[in-house]
Amino acid sequence: MEEETKPKRGVRSRANEVKPFRCKHLIAVLECPSDMRNIGTVVRNVNALGVEKVYIVDPRRALSDDWQELRDRKSLSKTSVSAVKWTFVRRFDSTDECFDHLEKKGFRSIVTSPHVKGKTNVILHEGDYTAFTKLAVWFGSEAIGISDAAVERSEMCVNIPMFGMIESLNLGTSSGIVLYEVTKQRREYQSRFRRRKKRGERSTPLPTVIPPKSHGLIAGIGDDYS
Ligand SMILES: C[S@@+](CC[C@H](N)C(=O)[O-])C[C@H]1O[C@@H](n2cnc3c(N)ncnc32)[C@H](O)[C@@H]1O
Repeated sequence: MEEETKPKRGVRSRANEVKPFRCKHLIAVLECPSDMRNIGTVVRNVNALGVEKVYIVDPRRALSDDWQELRDRKSLSKTSVSAVKWTFVRRFDSTDECFDHLEKKGFRSIVTSPHVKGKTNVILHEGDYTAFTKLAVWFGSEAIGISDAAVERSEMCVNIPMFGMIESLNLGTSSGIVLYEVTKQRREYQSRFRRRKKRGERSTPLPTVIPPKSHGLIAGIGDDYS
């Protein structure tokens, strides 16, 4: 019989150390991604930046419904440098199914696009990502981008300003840039306020970064560190 491997001590203590810094009620959503490497990169970014979960709209059924199976999947484990083992990933059959689930749980959504989409468009660093207690940040597919259906059910569209000759950034790259700004703002909020709508202000804000001395690679978390 296969023995279940218990997390190593250093891994458990790192998990406890990062827990208070993770962003509550924040989900990254990938709408119909086609490249497993991009999914792995997003999972890695989500884990590194302290986002709570990843939802994937996967009408082609390329992924499993079973989280445990997803965690063990080589292609995802490799591309996410094992971050998938530490990150909750759930798949949905359609954009509407995912929105129905999010809305039932009280989440509001924002979409991302290199183009102007829908009624409200915001430049990344000018947006306030703390206004909604429960927030889902949507990223579109590599070829088509975010769908009209997703734009329709979202509060706003966030745009990373572009200064080159190309139309858009890669999906994995844009997830890192957008989620960095979103998590930075939400961690600052969590450090200052205990409750929503800026209520329960702490007399001394909690730290928003882990002191550098305790940073470091932990054997067992990643298979490689490239
Ligand atoms: C390769 S891009 C998709 C390009 C596609 N041709 C389009 O029209 O959107 C994949 C995803 O990355 C995100 N993205 C890429 N560049 C972005 C930018 N400048 N601002 C915001 N999101 C961006 C969006 O979520 C986009 O759907």
